Amino acid sequence: MQDKIDSIKQQLLELTATHDSPRSVLRSPLLRSLYAEIPKLPAEQKGQFGQMINQLKLDIEAAVVTREAQLARVELRPIDVTAPMDINSARPEPLAASKGSVHPLMREISILSDIFNRMGYVVEESREIDDQFHMFESLNFPKGHPARDDYDTFMTEERDGDGEPLIAPAHTSTMQYRVLRKYLDNLDKGEPIAAIVPDRVFRNEDLDARHEHTFYQVEGVYVGEGVNVGNLIATLQEFLQEYYGKKLEVRLNPFYFPFTEPSFEFSLSCPFCEKKGCSVCSQEGWIELLGCGMIHPNVLQMAGVDPGKYTGFAFGCGVDRLVMMKYAIEDVRHFHSAKLDFLRQF
Ligand code: PHE
Repeated sequence: MQDKIDSIKQQLLELTATHDSPRSVLRSPLLRSLYAEIPKLPAEQKGQFGQMINQLKLDIEAAVVTREAQLARVELRPIDVTAPMDINSARPEPLAASKGSVHPLMREISILSDIFNRMGYVVEESREIDDQFHMFESLNFPKGHPARDDYDTFMTEERDGDGEPLIAPAHTSTMQYRVLRKYLDNLDKGEPIAAIVPDRVFRNEDLDARHEHTFYQVEGVYVGEGVNVGNLIATLQEFLQEYYGKKLEVRLNPFYFPFTEPSFEFSLSCPFCEKKGCSVCSQEGWIELLGCGMIHPNVLQMAGVDPGKYTGFAFGCGVDRLVMMKYAIEDVRHFHSAKLDFLRQF
């Protein structure tokens, strides 16, 4: 009898160790067949046999618990938090990492950074929270300057040490002061300061196909001896030609920014219709792409650059718009929509 129980126990343990729903082993016909033996036994053996089967059942139960824990561990696969969620599927699930891809904006930012790198520019990062000094004062917007209102700036309710709210940067120009200071030594060595800052900016905008509250800009700063507007135009033209892979006409209109003088609004001939007018350029033939100008002497001075000796230019270009034009994307909101149909095209 003991041998029979041992052999069944062995079989059941082996079964449990590999079963997908181990608890069902407790209802196995093998186990039930043992219980069915009890009534057939002589009265004096029933108690002992019953105890042996109960012990066997306890052993199987312990094996079931072990197996269940093992199965649970397998299901707790590490989650790739960077994988996009498929919100279009019936049951949202993270996609396997192998199916993910770099976000189109990130990919384009590395392409444009590479172009500027090859032109000798270093790449710097901005930040997602900044202060009034970098957003306004360092850029020649004194307190109460009306142009502060041109930037629909998100501000915190908390105040900093000066009693001022903190801000979510509304443009990458907040980095001009930092870049100038960081590379100030270049000028003493007879080298220019040349940096770009591609990063996120935030504006309290009404949203539509061309406006998002969160978008990307790339700031460019170039300072050296004898730098002029011609250098600015040539640089932007060279960059855009490389980025779009074709020669495009550019147009400058006078504009106003407190931190550049003169300031310009820079437009590009529409790469889709060659200035004939189409839906991408709203029938204009031209697309406004960025603001730029010669860095204001006050901005240079504040950052410790001698404006009597050095001049420089700066530009701030909307990356989303640049990318929309490259691929004829009709709505800026697609970028942050998490629509996989959109993302998978890149
Ligand atoms: N920061 C400006 C904007 O976002 C653009 C700009 C950058 C203009 C640099 C001049 C120089 O509107």
